[in-house]
Amino acid sequence: MKESYWQQKTKIKKFPALDHDIETDVLIIGGGLTGLMCAYFLKDSQYHITLVEGDEIGSHSSSHMTGKISYFQPSVLKNIKQSFSELTALRYFKSNLEAYISLVEIIEKNNIQCDFSVNPHYFYSVDKPQDLKTVYDMLEGSISTMEFTTNQIKMFPLGTFDPVKYMKGIVETLDNVNIYEHTKVLNHTKIQHKHVLKTGQHRITAKYVVVATRYPIFNFPSMYFLKMHQVRSALFLTPQRDRRIVLCEDDDIYSRRNIDHYNLHVTNERLVGDKEKPLRVYDKIQTWHNQDCISHDGLPMIGYYDKGDCTMFVATGYNKWGITMSHVAGKLISELILNKESEYQDLYEPHRFKPITSASAFSRLALRTMKAEIVDRIVLKKVDIENMDNHSGTVTDLDDTMVAVYKENGHYYGFVPVCSHLGCILKYNSAEHTFECPCHGSRFDYTGKVLDGPAIESIESTIVTSEDDNNEKEL
Ligand code: FES
Repeated sequence: MKESYWQQKTKIKKFPALDHDIETDVLIIGGGLTGLMCAYFLKDSQYHITLVEGDEIGSHSSSHMTGKISYFQPSVLKNIKQSFSELTALRYFKSNLEAYISLVEIIEKNNIQCDFSVNPHYFYSVDKPQDLKTVYDMLEGSISTMEFTTNQIKMFPLGTFDPVKYMKGIVETLDNVNIYEHTKVLNHTKIQHKHVLKTGQHRITAKYVVVATRYPIFNFPSMYFLKMHQVRSALFLTPQRDRRIVLCEDDDIYSRRNIDHYNLHVTNERLVGDKEKPLRVYDKIQTWHNQDCISHDGLPMIGYYDKGDCTMFVATGYNKWGITMSHVAGKLISELILNKESEYQDLYEPHRFKPITSASAFSRLALRTMKAEIVDRIVLKKVDIENMDNHSGTVTDLDDTMVAVYKENGHYYGFVPVCSHLGCILKYNSAEHTFECPCHGSRFDYTGKVLDGPAIESIESTIVTSEDDNNEKEL
């Protein structure tokens, strides 16, 4: 995965891979902000906490985000008000505001050097200024530092920080938490009231399990893959032109903040598996991407993984607001484990069902899945792989076999382009040189290694051959 600017500036402490079987009270799967915040809120409890990360701590979405800390999220609030009620939207707002305050307290209490600063953020809309006005009217009585003008809201105080420096600081507080990196959980069963998880060679037994993997990695129970989709956005740095922190609330989302002497821009949002528009920016300094889970009904899902089991938890569907939501999730899940109830348990209940809002999103997802499972298998373009450019890939029909091919420095890499999650056909993304699943958003590199879930298992590479080989390419 391409490193972000934050990752290049700061390195988080390294941890070993799990090399023996273990038993723990609470197992947290996922070392991003959500997993870390769960560990943070549980670290001083009576429980023994273990956190495992399949890659490295904070190496995925949490280190690829903008670092804008905002409890004010106009389009999310508008959608929640529309799908649920004004009261639900206000409770969502309150939980995010409390998360912001908690985050500031954590930074101060632990003296975390993460370049935190308080600033106004500007939210504007060219296409739908009336939506901003709706949100402004809803909050006007409760927030006095909010200003509305024609098509813009100025909100103060909000914040910015360096997310990797923040995670580094949180990790340093987790002395009594056992952390393992490069430890991928592959499956889960429950035996006599205990969770048993396999990591390939080793086994972890736990009383409680928290699945904090951005996209829940276990399909069953609860089938979260039916309740959300994933989007991907491009982030890039340019020389600094404007110090204002802005977010355009139109469909074509645009976000900007400043870092050091640069502006960090976010644009080009697309469903994973769709074609990425070229970025036509002449003075780009550095580019990376980030991936987010979008819940169909507009509210995140935080709580019990399965309705009938109060020992396993999930936190997902943050709708691109991972910083405050990871704090909401850490607090809520720790409260459920320690006290068995939480103020926001019903708000983020993962098993709610909003028939109308969920149904249209679900139908779109179902059509997309059907196309990737059936149509793409039949209508496959034949590509002359002999004439492929270097650093390029394709999904093609080769001697009546469907294959993902990538050419790198004269070598061809190939694998069967069937997603290891639920079997959809992958598509090649030329912008990032990856193979993506249009059904639920898993991503693979050219060797078939999983980059983003819900897929857990990599796909076995079937060819590695060279242009110079006289032999036919074997598939
Ligand atoms: Fe679900 Fe690929 S991500 S089938």
